[in-house]
Amino acid sequence: MNTSTFWRAPVLHFLGDPEQGEQNWEYFDDGGLLVESGFIKACGPAETVLKQLPEDCEVRELPGKLIVPGFIDTHVHYPQLEVMAGCGVQLLDWLEQYTFPAEAKFSDAEYAKEIAELFLDQCLSHGTTTALVFGTVAPQSVDAFFEAAKKRNMRMIAGKVMMDRNAPDYLLDTPESSYEDSEQLIDRWHNKGRLSYAVTPRFAPTSSSRQLYMAGRLLKEYKDLYFHTHLSENPREIEWVQALFPDSQHYLDVYDQHGLLGPRSVFAHSIHLCDQSWDRMAETDSSIACCPGSNLFLGSGLFNFSKAKKKNIRVGLGTDVGGGTSLCLLSTMKDAYQVSQLSENTISPLQAFYLATLGGARTLHLDDRIGNFQVGNEADFLVLNPEATPLLKFRTEKTKTLEELLGVLMVMGDDRVIEKAIVMGQET
Ligand code: GUN
Ligand code: ZN
Repeated sequence: MNTSTFWRAPVLHFLGDPEQGEQNWEYFDDGGLLVESGFIKACGPAETVLKQLPEDCEVRELPGKLIVPGFIDTHVHYPQLEVMAGCGVQLLDWLEQYTFPAEAKFSDAEYAKEIAELFLDQCLSHGTTTALVFGTVAPQSVDAFFEAAKKRNMRMIAGKVMMDRNAPDYLLDTPESSYEDSEQLIDRWHNKGRLSYAVTPRFAPTSSSRQLYMAGRLLKEYKDLYFHTHLSENPREIEWVQALFPDSQHYLDVYDQHGLLGPRSVFAHSIHLCDQSWDRMAETDSSIACCPGSNLFLGSGLFNFSKAKKKNIRVGLGTDVGGGTSLCLLSTMKDAYQVSQLSENTISPLQAFYLATLGGARTLHLDDRIGNFQVGNEADFLVLNPEATPLLKFRTEKTKTLEELLGVLMVMGDDRVIEKAIVMGQET
């Protein structure tokens, strides 16, 4: 079997934050990516890479396309596909009216399997090759998800929701059952192939202090687990947290008091943060999944890109489907750009593509494996078609620079731009 493929096309990837200098990104107009047994063997100008081709190498020539690393969605709920675009309410009412009833269905393992398969297929057709994913409170929802991810050989991180109060009875666990169920899932799935586990209390209002303590215990007992939750998304939510945890100084402090901050902790949203929270976030090297599409749809608020940058906090982009309205990170990049226009620092199209690729990988501590085309990395990448629709073709033909092209792709593009998603060197 042929295990080497040479992909010849324009290639873009990042070695660091493009804002910090031109040395942090590479673009090869006539580029080449050599993939061997699922890993990147070489990346550079086609002429250079051509010299390294093994004899039996398959050659794929894709002039006019653009190869970029697979997109990384740092916050998404797979059981919420069916509540996407549920209009009329903000976060807390949205959870009650739309989300909780939908998540209840995932105690049915067959249903969970069906939706996990649909979700992952849709991730791929929308350009996402890795994601940090919420399951539901039902452990079978997470088994179904990991089974489906394993079948596709996708690098995925997921966890069972821990939730022992302030939700309908049919969705509640207990501190002990959530600990045990999570432990069994960790044993079955954590660090198995390309899969990792995230300890996932939904958010402070739906966990007792004892349950948050149990979450912290899991983090101490197992190596390399992720911690994944929501933080400071909506003003009513924040007031509620203060009432439920009167001894906390602020929302983040609730998690802090339970030992839940750290380099592998990812806090979705983090919109309305006080100065102490920003400082604690930075001191503990915790990271943020910024979800501008969801924040606009649910009327939650605007993420402060300038502050995150000043504090040097790792930020990735999240679709937050079903609060978000698209699974496509191109759409999230557009929302991020538009939100940043209202802050002190507008992010550039290059910066947006960085956030969706290497920025996401850094947020998830996976930048030694995915997020760019460093030799030895896992070959997860996309072939983008800048001429996917007549209007895109018309518009992109008029672009004069790479930056301009990227801007048009993120603002006008959607899943039709994603021509192929390649996972570990294999076309999907
Ligand atoms: N906060 C707690 N649960 C959720 C959820 O499912 N989606 C969003 N966007 N925020 C939450
Ligand atoms: Zn969410």
